[in-house]
Amino acid sequence: MSQRRVLTGITTTGTPHLGNYVGAIKPAIAESQNPDVQSYYFLADLHALIKAQDPQRVQQSRLEIAATWLALGLDTDNAIFYRQSDIHEIPELAWLLSCVCAKGLMNRSHAYKAAVGENEAAGQSDPDRGISMGLFGYPVLMAADILMFNAHKVPVGRDQIQHIEMARDMAGRFNHIYKGDYFTLPEAIVDEQSEVLRGLDGRKMSKSYDNTIPLFVSEKKLQKLVRKIKTNSLEPGEPKDPDTCTLFQIYAAFATPDESADMRRRYVEGIGWGDAKNEVFEYLNAHLREPRARYEALMNDPAYIEQVLVKGAERAREETQALMDKLRPAVGLGRFQ
Ligand code: TRP
Repeated sequence: MSQRRVLTGITTTGTPHLGNYVGAIKPAIAESQNPDVQSYYFLADLHALIKAQDPQRVQQSRLEIAATWLALGLDTDNAIFYRQSDIHEIPELAWLLSCVCAKGLMNRSHAYKAAVGENEAAGQSDPDRGISMGLFGYPVLMAADILMFNAHKVPVGRDQIQHIEMARDMAGRFNHIYKGDYFTLPEAIVDEQSEVLRGLDGRKMSKSYDNTIPLFVSEKKLQKLVRKIKTNSLEPGEPKDPDTCTLFQIYAAFATPDESADMRRRYVEGIGWGDAKNEVFEYLNAHLREPRARYEALMNDPAYIEQVLVKGAERAREETQALMDKLRPAVGLGRFQ
């Protein structure tokens, strides 16, 4: 297979929101329709257990995220779409990688260091308090996700670049120790153009700030949330600055360049906040109406989603089983014959 392989995972701990759509889902779906690319998209549900130990929340989030991607047009004939937890070879590979990965490398992981930093700031005597081995070794599992499919490109947010570098490190060490070209060294792609969408309070839209607009809320709820987007106290008729305005940024992420230019002009002419909010609501609602109906139908048919994911896992496992059949003898775990 000489196609370019693009792979990314979505941690299943929350409900997809407009920021996820603009930053990750939309570009990934566009890539899934490109015949020159073999894309692998998966629900990182083993990763979810690091952050969420509420089974209902994890289960619900897996279903919502799968339904969202399907409702928005993911091409599952081209893209391979699966649940990480269905691919038993992934934790197996994670173990092989753990055994070539220096503990010191993990000590330098941002996610781990941030957790230690929080303990220190709170005056804890044990800096590792509340930190699980799952969190500590998180980059190893992520490396297994990526190296398993010999992905070339991994679209991720900026905060994930270090994990891709760690995956390269583990790939290189494994290749070196076991003297072979087992793994491709992956590269992160960070979309420099796509801005980080801001949320209701003007900070980055993120479930940890509780400032998101979920993609598929009811029409009424969507309207309520758009009205909550923070604006300033300028009166109708006063010129407004689109470039610092969260409402405008959200609109522009969905609108065509012409539509954005038009809205920009009306800001300068002094459109009132009430009118601007109504228009943004109407615009978003018109664009989300169809996928919302598909989403609702999918959420009411989990057996169908299950079937799609099982099919995806079967396709994925053709590759992962073949790779493990090569890796086991390479490390001395082959069959006796
Ligand atoms: N850690 C990623 C995140 O939180 C999710 C993820 C898990 C992932 N495995 C991956 C992303 C493999 C890319 C490739 O966003």
